[in-house]
Amino acid sequence: MKPKISVLGTGYLGATHAAGLAEMGFEVIGLDVDAEKIAKLARGEVPFHEPGLGALMRTHTASGRLRFTTDYAQAAAFADIHFLAVGTPQSADDGAADLRYVDAAIDALAPHLTRPCLVVGKSTVPVGTAARLVDRLVSLAPAGGTVDLAWNPEFLREGHAVDDTLRPDRIVVGVRSDIAEKLLREVYAGIVERGTPFLVTDLATAELVKTAANSFLATKISFINAMAELCEATGGDVTTLARAIGHDARIGPRFLNAGVGFGGGCLPKDVRAFRARARQLGGEGAAALLSQVDAINLRARDRVLDMARDTLGGELAGRRIAVLGAAFKPDTDDVRDSPALDVAARAARAGAEVVVYDPMAAGAGAVARPELDFATSLESAVTGADLVMLLTEWEEFRLADPRRLATLVRTPRLVDGRNALDHQAWAAAGWSVRAPGRAPLAGQIPFDAPEAA
Ligand code: UGA
Repeated sequence: MKPKISVLGTGYLGATHAAGLAEMGFEVIGLDVDAEKIAKLARGEVPFHEPGLGALMRTHTASGRLRFTTDYAQAAAFADIHFLAVGTPQSADDGAADLRYVDAAIDALAPHLTRPCLVVGKSTVPVGTAARLVDRLVSLAPAGGTVDLAWNPEFLREGHAVDDTLRPDRIVVGVRSDIAEKLLREVYAGIVERGTPFLVTDLATAELVKTAANSFLATKISFINAMAELCEATGGDVTTLARAIGHDARIGPRFLNAGVGFGGGCLPKDVRAFRARARQLGGEGAAALLSQVDAINLRARDRVLDMARDTLGGELAGRRIAVLGAAFKPDTDDVRDSPALDVAARAARAGAEVVVYDPMAAGAGAVARPELDFATSLESAVTGADLVMLLTEWEEFRLADPRRLATLVRTPRLVDGRNALDHQAWAAAGWSVRAPGRAPLAGQIPFDAPEAA
């Protein structure tokens, strides 16, 4: 008989994991303390935008394979394996991970564990957390030492969450026992059969793999943004540089897109949490590296703002700026720690008249930044603008016609904060173009433009 599974915490990670497990053929119960969220999920509705997740959710809530509850006793009675997928936000003081939700979930679950079972952490936690949770579980659970703990980090990307769950690059499991390994091999058998690597480690390594992976990705982005600073100082071109080094298979071309830097609910907080943990552990080298990664990333936002100010002759106050993008990256409505919204808000604070347009994240953006104006179309956002800033590289912006947009703005000035547009084409349509790590391009007067009076 297949093991029955619970997923504790039904945010981005938990909801996708629960639906993915149901798709893999397991009976799953998802639990959250947020009754409203649970009611939505139980109806097959997904409270955030994620391609393909709604369909999975509807299929498996309808078939009964996927259920939801707010009751820990019910989850404990039902499942043999409990995946822990609650959030680990950044704490206010030193950037360390705030583990209150992890601890609360363990404390709420453990007293109901009356038979042998496996608890599997998926949340991103500081190394050493799992070892501490083992003691907590064993002391609080009536089933005592027959309750085991494993750690199984998750690498899904927003916007690709379903695919990353059903077809991951690798599966990493940190275990303390052969039984735990056997159970997790059973859970992921279908995926492993298709050739996905399955790596078995101790608990500490599994915890570290996750923070190391996100920190490496962040380092790659900050590295190229540091190169962008040098390109600007020397007249080099960072996009050509990235392409050239990316051809080296040891470096690879991905995550070398210079611009306004990384944001979102994971990379920024994970870098800071890892730095805080490295400091506690005496890992000064790692802590110093991660401090620089964070500093370069935040500087990328300052530099894009400086570029805007410079383009406008030194003053943002009183100028109308169209900000294209609010989400932290395209194809999501997530605005957590979004560089786009941060830059937009800072331009507004400096006195600019900022209008933001995002094809999907305007609602979330308006909640996060009620002081900003949000337009309902690209055209209305750019109409009358003194400057257009592209800060999230949505396809709609890549496909936009620079000649048409040039007729709507007051002055065709572009800051491409993501290096996403065809600068030659925009310059040919009359736009002056600035972008991180690139030389400025002057706008050409288009052949069919009416002659200046
Ligand atoms: C990231 C990781 O990629 C996932 O593997 C991980 O599972 C996830 O965090 C997590 O810990 O949950 P995600 O936050 O969805 O996924 O977004 P990414 O695609 O990694 O992008 C992060 C940020 O980096 C975005 O703001 C993006 O615009 C920026 N970025 C990305 C760049 O500035 N340049 C690049 O070349 C690539």
